[in-house]
Amino acid sequence: MSTHRPVRFGYVGCGFVAQNIHIPNFKSLPECDFQAIAEARPELGQQVADYYSIPRVYASHLDIAADPDIEAVGVSGPYALQGAIAEDLLRAGKHVFMEKPMAVSVARAQGIVDAEKASGKRLMVGYMKRYDAGNILLKQHADAWRASGEAGNVVFARNHGFGGNWVYAQDPNVKRFDAPAGTTPPPSPDECPQWLPPQWKDAYLGYLQQWTHNVNLLRFFLDDTAGTARVEDVHLDGDGMTGIVVLDIGGTRAVVESAYNRFHAWEEHTQIYFEGGWLKTAAPPLMQKNAPATVEIYRAAHNAAAPQLLQQFASPQWAYREEAKHFLHGVALNEPFHSSASDTLVDVRLFEEIYQHFLKQRNEL
Ligand SMILES: NC(=O)c1ccc[n+]([C@@H]2O[C@H](COP(=O)([O-])OP(=O)(O)OC[C@H]3O[C@@H](n4cnc5c(N)ncnc54)[C@H](O)[C@@H]3O)[C@@H](O)[C@H]2O)c1
Repeated sequence: MSTHRPVRFGYVGCGFVAQNIHIPNFKSLPECDFQAIAEARPELGQQVADYYSIPRVYASHLDIAADPDIEAVGVSGPYALQGAIAEDLLRAGKHVFMEKPMAVSVARAQGIVDAEKASGKRLMVGYMKRYDAGNILLKQHADAWRASGEAGNVVFARNHGFGGNWVYAQDPNVKRFDAPAGTTPPPSPDECPQWLPPQWKDAYLGYLQQWTHNVNLLRFFLDDTAGTARVEDVHLDGDGMTGIVVLDIGGTRAVVESAYNRFHAWEEHTQIYFEGGWLKTAAPPLMQKNAPATVEIYRAAHNAAAPQLLQQFASPQWAYREEAKHFLHGVALNEPFHSSASDTLVDVRLFEEIYQHFLKQRNEL
């Protein structure tokens, strides 16, 4: 049953994420009136549109931007290009849902925030972890412990993000279309920060696009609504990716542990330590539908009560589908998004700062 009027929706990009996640999700929601797609490889766009019965097919995001019947647009393009696409759509008067990263430079992120102000439209970033029912449960516990002081102060936080196979447990029944041989996606323009040496661009983009999720999740749990998080220290290997980054988030030391391993599924957990206990969440395989993060709650002995270790399970939901619902809800009812453009600008700033630290240590900046 729909909870609000249908939103007149279009989608840009028909690549992997669009076909396996967002187009089926938006198309299945009664709150979505899915009217058009744009795909730079037109035969691919037509196949996807035919399969999902989407009436209009365009070859560029600029065509959806010019379609007066569309009020909101989803975007999953190449990660260094999609910030420019999103900014064009906002300036054309569309609300935008977009995949992470929102931008790969503060300059583009600021352009997006400025475009929101100029057009009065809003952008939501697809940080699906913020819409995962298990992570929401952990956040509720963390907020309650902070408000009551019952477990003392927050003393430390860590995110362990070694990943593995991100498409583990993918639904084999989702129909997949490939672009015909000989068609290539448009090249991404150079959107990297001006100060970044050219030989570090690939490593920077690779690190940013993956661990932006992890930094954003720590900021969510530690309630960095003021956006004051900063980088304290950086220890990355010569690949510019494997290692440890120490952040200060609202006065709490928070560590991001990053590496790729060949784990068969997805290995990622986040732990918030209080003086009198901890809250821990373990991410599900990302493509596994209806499997939210699991939550562990440890309370040290207090008020004559024995120590306790509890596991909590949130109701079965798929974070990617929940974020789609949240976007449509926010557009239809004019309510704020939990992962807004101005909040995400902080993540983009932190990644520039991490790489500046890293390259200065190597005397390459
Ligand atoms: N949230 C997550 O867990 C997650 C996981 C994987 C990828 N992503 C993000 O999703 C995004 C897309 O990834 P993907 O693997 O689907 O990429 P992809 O390359 O498979 O798809 C991008 C599509 O956009 C099309 N395109 C490019 N410019 C266009 C334009 N101007 N107008 C219309 N179409 C255009 C390309 O032809 C291509 O088909 C990336 O930015 C990535 O960071 C997010």
